[in-house]
Amino acid sequence: MSASQSAARRTVLKGAAALAGAAGAGVTLAACTTETNSGGGSPAVPTEPVELGAASEVPVGGSKLFRERKLVVSCPAEGRYKAFSAQCTHAGCVLDKIVEGEGNCPCHGSRFDVATGKVLRGPASAPLPEVPVKVEGGRLVAG
Ligand code: FES
Repeated sequence: MSASQSAARRTVLKGAAALAGAAGAGVTLAACTTETNSGGGSPAVPTEPVELGAASEVPVGGSKLFRERKLVVSCPAEGRYKAFSAQCTHAGCVLDKIVEGEGNCPCHGSRFDVATGKVLRGPASAPLPEVPVKVEGGRLVAG
């Protein structure tokens, strides 16, 4: 193999590596898009009533995340409660924390107002779905 043939071969190999890299990036994007549509595979809102524990655990003027139930409950005033799905409307991740009234999605950084469900920061564009909630014998029941 001459020097010029070998140089040409290296160029071809580099091109192939670049293509493989581009294809890999394409696969990553496609997977993210699929996730968006699947919603994580479970319903964003409960299909039957879910008991969340003592209503007094949600502070007046504050909120509480029930991560394992995929719900967030806020209490705008004494005895009044609002519940929302805690499943991010972007790609279905469950919010991981609430900081100063903002629910944080750990996957791509969306933020939601947990008192209204409204999107405060994307990439999510749809609000968190509201879930009916009531107090029975001092216990919160959602769904
Ligand atoms: S899943 Fe992407 S921001 Fe929540």
